[in-house]
Amino acid sequence: MTDSTAQDKYTQQTIVGVHTWQSPALISVQVTRPAGFDYLPGQFARIGLPEAVGQSEPALWRAYSMVSHPSENILEFLSVTVIDGAFSPKLASLKPGDAIWVEKAPFGFLTLERFSTAKTLWLVATGTGLSAYLPMLKDSKIWQQFEKVVLVHGVRQAQELTYKSDIEAIAGANQALIYLPIFSQAPWSDGLYPPSRITSAYENGQLERAAGRQLDPEDSRIMLCGNPAMVSGMRAMLQERGFAAGRRGNLGTLAVENYW
Ligand SMILES: Cc1cc2nc3c(=O)[nH]c(=O)nc-3n(C[C@H](O)[C@H](O)[C@H](O)COP(=O)(O)OP(=O)(O)OC[C@H]3O[C@@H](n4cnc5c(N)ncnc54)[C@H](O)[C@@H]3O)c2cc1C
Ligand SMILES: NC(=O)c1ccc[n+]([C@@H]2O[C@H](COP(=O)([O-])OP(=O)(O)OC[C@H]3O[C@@H](n4cnc5c(N)ncnc54)[C@H](OP(=O)(O)O)[C@@H]3O)[C@@H](O)[C@H]2O)c1
Repeated sequence: MTDSTAQDKYTQQTIVGVHTWQSPALISVQVTRPAGFDYLPGQFARIGLPEAVGQSEPALWRAYSMVSHPSENILEFLSVTVIDGAFSPKLASLKPGDAIWVEKAPFGFLTLERFSTAKTLWLVATGTGLSAYLPMLKDSKIWQQFEKVVLVHGVRQAQELTYKSDIEAIAGANQALIYLPIFSQAPWSDGLYPPSRITSAYENGQLERAAGRQLDPEDSRIMLCGNPAMVSGMRAMLQERGFAAGRRGNLGTLAVENYW
């Protein structure tokens, strides 16, 4: 599709870097940033690729959260390669210099603007859901809005902890960040707590004990991002405790984003 409507909607960009994490299914891709592409930490882009090698127009589109902070001059995305996925294996095969397409407008409402000032912000992610939180952690606004930030990252095994050293560096420089990685399928010796999913660690009190603080809608705000089953499970339990999404222009205490 080369008509002017399509050209108005997206631009062709170039891959400038690819990093493979300890798990080969996880990669970070750096892309040139389209002129005028402004976004808020937590928003996502729609990125496009041709359906087959040799085609020169994008036909497949998927949403990817920006890992990069809006002040950076490239866009960075974290991607898990889904076996038999239509898009992610194609993305994983790209090399620096290859073309990729980015829609001109950013999307999404999982941003710090969703919340008023509070004592503690909980950022809860499974897998690549971490992406949305990384630009927030690099943003000075978060530390003006919250006294403490608890980052919970649920993965199957320790080797899937992407951006661990970057997060530990932020936590080392700023005691206000509490980083809680949690493994669902690793031996206990690999982690600080028994292996579990985020939902069971919340239910049995392990998450709040590890963070040293209670989840209370009076002074806490919480974001959930990633696996829709984790998001719906956590949302149901948090609603019972009084957490609620914002409605009709009122700020809420809970904000979520499903990745599929
Ligand atoms: C708002 C939004 C933001 C997103 N941001 C990211 C991101 O930053 N990084 C990223 O890797 N993906 C992200 N995704 C998912 C992404 O858009 C694609 O779905 C994913 O890359 C797989 O594409 P696919 O065509 O290979 O497989 P699809 O056909 O799209 O998915 C097939 C199946 O793979 C599984 N799956 C899809 N995405 C994931 C995932 N991220 N983690 C684990 N299992 C998954 C699900 O079971 C899904 O049904 C986001 C999705 C949304 C809606
Ligand atoms: N991440 C990798 O390194 C890797 C490697 C090879 C292939 N893949 C492919 O990537 C896809 C999956 O990626 P992923 O493992 O990053 O994402 P995921 O399946 O969403 O798992 C991420 C974390 O979410 C947990 N989880 C799943 N369902 C949950 C629920 N209902 N409530 C609470 N927590 C829940 C998982 O626990 P459980 O472990 O208990 O399910 C795991 O700890 C698959 O297509 C897979 O083939 C990924």
